[in-house]
Amino acid sequence: MIITVEKTTEALAKTAAGEIATYINAHPDALLCLAAGDTPLRTMEALIALQDEGKTNLSSVYYIGLDEWRGIGYETPGSCAQVMEDHFYGPAGIPKERIQVWDGKAAEVEAERQRMEQWLAARGGIGLLLLGVGMNGHIGFNEPGSPEDAVTLRTDLDATTLRVGPKYFGGAPCPTEGISIGLAALMRAQKVLLMATGAHKASIMRRALMEPPTPQVPASLLRKREQLDVYMDEALFESLGKTEEAHP
Ligand code: F6R
Repeated sequence: MIITVEKTTEALAKTAAGEIATYINAHPDALLCLAAGDTPLRTMEALIALQDEGKTNLSSVYYIGLDEWRGIGYETPGSCAQVMEDHFYGPAGIPKERIQVWDGKAAEVEAERQRMEQWLAARGGIGLLLLGVGMNGHIGFNEPGSPEDAVTLRTDLDATTLRVGPKYFGGAPCPTEGISIGLAALMRAQKVLLMATGAHKASIMRRALMEPPTPQVPASLLRKREQLDVYMDEALFESLGKTEEAHP
């Protein structure tokens, strides 16, 4: 495990984007899986800036959505589909045929899972994975206790996710179910970047990085991999060693 700490979230985003661009340039037809959520947004901006400077081609690779809230689709602000389109796929000019995202409104969950699993399999699994971490340690919508052998899954969201979720929906309640790439596929990714920022993530990141890996903290399972790159800002890093921390 390599941990990179930068003073600001801007600097962190630039460093991570540089690493991702290097990967894309070396693996120009790889499958990328990028978390939605607040944490990676600046990294996406920084990646687009690198493309604008001619340092990488974000349309050479393929993309798969990490997860989605069940029951909503692109037209709902706060859906992962809309966040990714507005912040990354759209401004980066990625052709639609290179992207496969979850349909949160799919009536048949099993068929939807199969569709995404086929896209994954057709590209030999995930090449590069950029993850955030939930306040309960979830990665994607792999909530605490999620099965480690699932390639994709539908899940009931846990109490912490339901408490935090309204931040994406202007304070309104979030959906109670999710669909996600599962731990089996995430663990097999060629390269994983786990990004977390802010003192409020210190408690869960301490459990993810410093305590024995457990399915109760899905992010901690990533430490069973040979390769794991963790990106954090100084605010989080300095809080990791403290017992008291900020809870915004
Ligand atoms: C989003 C996702 C989630 C988030 C996590 C952290 O696609 O998969 O696991 O990465 O909830 O969210 P933020 O970055 O908003 O703190």
